[in-house]
Amino acid sequence: MATVQFDKATRIYPGSDSDKPAVDSLEIDIADGEFLVLVGPSGCGKSTSLRMLAGLEEVNRGTIRIGDRDVTHLPPKDRDIAMVFQNYALYPHMTVADNMGFALKIAGVNKTEIRSKVEEAAKMLDLTEYLDRKPKALSGGQRQRVAMGRAIVRDPQVFLFDEPLSNLDAKLRVSTRTQIASLQRRLGITTVYVTHDQVEAMTMGDRVAVLKGGILQQVESPRRMYDKPANLFVAGFIGSPAMNLIEVPITDGGVKFGNSVVPVNRDALKAAADKGDRTVTVGVRPEHFDVLELGGGAASLTKDTADAPAGLAVAVNVVEETGADGYIFGTTEVGGEATDLVIRVNSRAVPEKGSTVHVVPQPGEIHVFSTSTGERLSD
Ligand SMILES: Nc1ncnc2c1ncn2[C@@H]1O[C@H](COP(=O)(O)OP(=O)(O)OP(=O)(O)O)[C@@H](O)[C@H]1O
Ligand SMILES: [Mg+2]
Repeated sequence: MATVQFDKATRIYPGSDSDKPAVDSLEIDIADGEFLVLVGPSGCGKSTSLRMLAGLEEVNRGTIRIGDRDVTHLPPKDRDIAMVFQNYALYPHMTVADNMGFALKIAGVNKTEIRSKVEEAAKMLDLTEYLDRKPKALSGGQRQRVAMGRAIVRDPQVFLFDEPLSNLDAKLRVSTRTQIASLQRRLGITTVYVTHDQVEAMTMGDRVAVLKGGILQQVESPRRMYDKPANLFVAGFIGSPAMNLIEVPITDGGVKFGNSVVPVNRDALKAAADKGDRTVTVGVRPEHFDVLELGGGAASLTKDTADAPAGLAVAVNVVEETGADGYIFGTTEVGGEATDLVIRVNSRAVPEKGSTVHVVPQPGEIHVFSTSTGERLSD
């Protein structure tokens, strides 16, 4: 087992603009035994980062360390890593057992030892009865497990996964992600796992690293990333349905939400005003709205107009019920512009489609971001 360190690791592909590296000064320290997930939209540099760590891609600047070894310029075979690819890359003419043991055979390990390691891994992965089959006679999920088995038998210092579940159907993806996560915990092998799926990232990782345009946005535990996204990009990317992000005018002591002024952290507003901004972008997760009774209003709110109901009037366009929850997809007006909102409501009290509800964000659950730079202003 080992730690992994990306120390300002940079990759500039030949012929591409050197001002815009595919991965730009990536800095992540991964602890021994940790499960780190790299996540971000297509083209953000996830595979490139992983391939730099694997030794499959040149590092143009910076350093990569595994344990206390500088591996930046070592060939892949000397790094003591095992990688599982999206397409599994199994040898079609070999049996499952031979596929799993191939790397050990190349390394000159004797037959008895290979057999025992393969059988042990097969047991962990529920593959024992398939050991003599060829890959084409397996389901997608079984092939995926063979690819895992091939990595496990090598007993590497680090596991690398590049979207290993993307060829599986939705249901199998969910069950396989649980298997991989629990297997990793059992083996305790430091793991770097790439996915573009934020739900996969949040459910599997000890920590999640979000990349955008080759630049690291935030590295945090799933919980903290959800609670305190560092900027507008992370706020919009992590969470499903996504956080509502609304540009609102700054008023004294708060931000204006329809007829209500919702108090927010003064330092955050001052920071925005210091930049010369007149608005801030407020983020509210769908589960953090209170739906008001007409004529009522939350005690913590100041009403501008005595008669108008407090909060934002939201026209309900669509209601989705998932059984446990209900989601309103609605439209409201903020600063004269129509804005879409998603609001979670009690599944036993969902409003009618076409009706109007009044909502206010729960005061302690508001995220404030700079409209001009996107950075988080509230703490
Ligand atoms: N061999 C290459 N030569 C030139 N540019 C490349 C090469 N491989 C990747 N790139 C570019 O580098 C950037 C990062 O690519 P990368 O494959 O790391 O993205 P990714 O995050 O893995 O995306 P995806 O989710 O689509 O797999 C992209 O802009 C891509 O076009
Ligand atoms: Mg990729």
